Amino acid sequence: MDARLPQTLANAVAEYAAQHDASSSERSSAMSDKYRGGANSQATIKTESDIAAYAVARMPATYAAIAAAMDATAQRAPDFVPRTLLDAGAGLGSASWAALEFWPEIEQLTLLDNHPGFRAAAAQLARSTPTFSAANFLAGDMAGFTSPAPFDLVVAGYALAEISANFLPRVLDALWAACGGVLLIVEPGTPAGFERIVKARTHLLRSGAKLIAPCPHENACPVLAPDWCHFTQRLPRLRAHMQAKDATVPFEDEKFAYLAAAHESVMLASASPRILTAPDVAKGEVRLKLCTGAGLETRVVPRRDAGAYRAASRAKWGETL
Ligand SMILES: C[S@@+](CC[C@H](N)C(=O)[O-])C[C@H]1O[C@@H](n2cnc3c(N)ncnc32)[C@H](O)[C@@H]1O
Repeated sequence: MDARLPQTLANAVAEYAAQHDASSSERSSAMSDKYRGGANSQATIKTESDIAAYAVARMPATYAAIAAAMDATAQRAPDFVPRTLLDAGAGLGSASWAALEFWPEIEQLTLLDNHPGFRAAAAQLARSTPTFSAANFLAGDMAGFTSPAPFDLVVAGYALAEISANFLPRVLDALWAACGGVLLIVEPGTPAGFERIVKARTHLLRSGAKLIAPCPHENACPVLAPDWCHFTQRLPRLRAHMQAKDATVPFEDEKFAYLAAAHESVMLASASPRILTAPDVAKGEVRLKLCTGAGLETRVVPRRDAGAYRAASRAKWGETL
């Protein structure tokens, strides 16, 4: 899986950033800090320079996390081929761009957002490729969204973070009703982000969803506070981001939590235990923290078990075993 922005998008972001002055390091770090702290876009994004700072500082990271979650989804649902996509809380369209990399069969893109500045900027970035020529940039609120026909794939990337707890059930109902195949929710990899994922998991299971990933089962989630289930995706920093952040390291690690759920009609491969943290490779053994149908398990793979040891020492956080 490629966590980098597609080159066309990276070029469009660079052009937008140059046009609207995303070069101030203060602006760019402040933007990342605000969103990490649970910012609301209506209050945070006021000008095109704010959007440019978001595009440079946050979009590559949200893209990478959403792509990683799509990768896990596609692995468990290899025959799922969406033709229509609803990108709910689309922002600059990270989820739409990532979905097109995984499922180039998507013919109809709908990007829903209640922020006019984000909608306009998303449309501007999309002009860089003919793939978006028939895209629909819809103004509207996720909570009241209805659609005459369900979308094969619905993605809410880093969007539920902006929904108050009271409204979350209503938004989940709207997204689930708008979905005919797979609903993918990606949130920041914080305890608060995971809490929303657990609420969404409970709510969607009650609505009849089956789980694709990361959960290998539909029992109660065994990850309890103060622990939280999250994953990490490494991504290269854009040149503009390096400059804006005065960064010396050319990559960053984005922490995210996610849930992919499906309607009954979507065929799934059988589930395998998921690795919940970086494998602990010690002398003579590898320790894996796994989520399994029977709960959490620490599996110790001794070196003498050569094949399993080799596989375990190469395994990565977030993969299935
Ligand atoms: C943090 S941004 C994420 C954008 C994009 N999905 C990404 O991953 O980069 C959250 C987006 O959700 C939108 N949003 C928040 N609440 C919304 C609502 N109730 N209805 C529609 N869009 C909403 C915001 O305007 C913003 O564009």
